[in-house]
Amino acid sequence: MSDIYTHGHHESVLRSHAWRTAGNSAAYLLGELHPGQRLLDVGCGPGTITLDLARRVAPGQVIGIDAEPDVLRGADELRRRQGIDNVTFEPGDAYGLAYDDDSFDIINLHQVLQHLTDPVRAMIELRRVLAPGGVLAYAGRHRGARAHGPLPGDAARWFRSLTTLRSRDDSTRVEFVGKRR
Ligand SMILES: C[S@@+](CC[C@H](N)C(=O)[O-])C[C@H]1O[C@@H](n2cnc3c(N)ncnc32)[C@H](O)[C@@H]1O
Repeated sequence: MSDIYTHGHHESVLRSHAWRTAGNSAAYLLGELHPGQRLLDVGCGPGTITLDLARRVAPGQVIGIDAEPDVLRGADELRRRQGIDNVTFEPGDAYGLAYDDDSFDIINLHQVLQHLTDPVRAMIELRRVLAPGGVLAYAGRHRGARAHGPLPGDAARWFRSLTTLRSRDDSTRVEFVGKRR
């Protein structure tokens, strides 16, 4: 079962998330992206980062999932308006994914793990659907539910068990990019 996402999806929350693009929020991942990759964006929310990532891996197929189906309607409407045809938005739970093993070359989570009570359990499930050699990337802020601070110790250790390509874990932002062995 999923956790309760305390921020909710009020219009004001969505507005603050929807200015995000891959360029201004997911620069940690851009160097790993290539046309044709299969990409999963977990906890995609309004989908602005997802759509931007999709342009960079087209014609690769992209799936954006979120535990809250309502937010996906807006994401899909934006997708339609932007004429992007390599993305589907689907309800989904990071703790239990409806995809086969090794389904994705890239998995991105932006500002998601701090909302999960058991981030390690979610990452074990994400690793299952990540192809060998695939890249798992995360960025967020931590301390309590919403501010700054290090990723919880077990989660940081888990990330380091991948081949770590880049990591930054300081008082302002946590970023991990790792490759599955
Ligand atoms: C802070 S928002 C980030 C949205 C988007 N990634 C961005 O940065 O613009 C966190 C999102 O994670 C989703 N979420 C929370 N728990 C989840 C879970 N277990 N599985 C999938 N999505 C989840 C929430 O519904 C919310 O849309």
